[in-house]
Amino acid sequence: MKTNNCGEINKDNVSNEITLCGWVDTIRTSGKISFIVLRDRTGIVQIFMNKDLTEQAKDLKKEAVIQIKGIVNARPENQVKKEIATGEIEIEAKELNILNNSEAPLPIEMSEETTTSIDKRLDYRFLDLRREKIKNIFVIRSKIYSSTVNFFESEKFIAVQSPKLTASGVESGAEEFKIPYFEKTAALAQSPQVYKQMFVASGLERVYDIGTVFRAEKSHTTRHLTEFTGIDFEMAFTKDENDIMDMVEKFLQSVLTNIKTKCEKELETLKVQINVPDKIPRISMIEAREILKAKGKNIPEDEDLDPEGEKMFSEYVKEKHDCDFVFLTDFPWTKRPFYHMRPEDKKLTKSFDLLYKGVEIATGAQREHRLDVLEAQCKEKGLDLNKLDFYKNIFRFGCPPHGGVGLGLDRITSRMLDLENVREAILLPRDPERLTP
Ligand code: 4AD
Ligand code: MG
Repeated sequence: MKTNNCGEINKDNVSNEITLCGWVDTIRTSGKISFIVLRDRTGIVQIFMNKDLTEQAKDLKKEAVIQIKGIVNARPENQVKKEIATGEIEIEAKELNILNNSEAPLPIEMSEETTTSIDKRLDYRFLDLRREKIKNIFVIRSKIYSSTVNFFESEKFIAVQSPKLTASGVESGAEEFKIPYFEKTAALAQSPQVYKQMFVASGLERVYDIGTVFRAEKSHTTRHLTEFTGIDFEMAFTKDENDIMDMVEKFLQSVLTNIKTKCEKELETLKVQINVPDKIPRISMIEAREILKAKGKNIPEDEDLDPEGEKMFSEYVKEKHDCDFVFLTDFPWTKRPFYHMRPEDKKLTKSFDLLYKGVEIATGAQREHRLDVLEAQCKEKGLDLNKLDFYKNIFRFGCPPHGGVGLGLDRITSRMLDLENVREAILLPRDPERLTP
């Protein structure tokens, strides 16, 4: 239906007859003539309409979808609009087809500096997305996704899609969504953890799983969703958690470099600069607690950092090491699941969290692959491995030492683009209140 894209027309097209399709960004009538700013996903262009077309357009509303046939004219030198990419030209319309008019008024304010609340914007997300900045968040998210796939493929990982309908997760049952499943009760997968370990043991050695993760978390924070996209990977023959952190580091360098070089235009509209990390500092929780203590923040020995602690610690790392990322290592056993491997000091685990600009974006660990140790660890946590026999079986017939990590695509996107709320980084967020649209 169109020969060109709005945002891509320039002086080279002068005198061409073109057909454009898009949304009416603005319409302004001046006496008997009128001007439409037409928008598609590539940008905007100004259309000039004569008396007859202006008459035809008298009921046209903002955000209507139209088709324009016309001629590209150069603007005189002194009328070039420097603020828009297509400012050197203007389209003189010859034909107008109204494909779908819009209602007025619009339910949300669609200017870039909108004052509409995030809640209302999410109710009308499809309109909200017509704003350039918002659209660009998802152009970048898409690029993070494809860069992730490219990275794992180049590192010889095999993509797996683990089931989302499960009997019961291995990780804390409290966060499961239970759903009726014929005569049984099923749970929505709250992590691909058991499956990625299974496929490593199956001989695939390196697997990654990008998929939906469900968490029945009744939290109302700017970082928690009840449904998010997990980027999980698991790899065999890792000597310890450092091998996994090395891979995460390489992954981030690859993805961030891609975004920085391929999304320059989008980053500019969002006013974001990407800092590709060189070496990401690895700091033990023991040291982190001391650093925070000196700053007046007390974290008990058996506790995680709370959100305030994470923020303070990231600020410290930014100042000291000039890095947006930090690995926190050696988490206490009390705070980690039974399948994390422990060093000699059984109070700790061979695990880590990764913080990005003050928020946890990943948790990973070397896994315990020795069945007797795993059974003992289960017991210590008050669990019975025999109840998870399909998981137990993984360790009975030749399971390599292995480890892996779970990252959150939504949190990575929101941190990378300095979005205050993770909801800004997902098209249709789910939280305890929101099930529609
Ligand atoms: O830290 P989590 O819970 O770790 C696991 O799921 C382990 N199985 C991973 C592993 O391999 N050891 O989740 C991993 C990541 C978090 O760091 C965060 O980025 C994201 O998933 N995440 C959430 N994102 C949005 N909303 C939530 N409610 C999230 N919960 C976790
Ligand atoms: Mg975690």
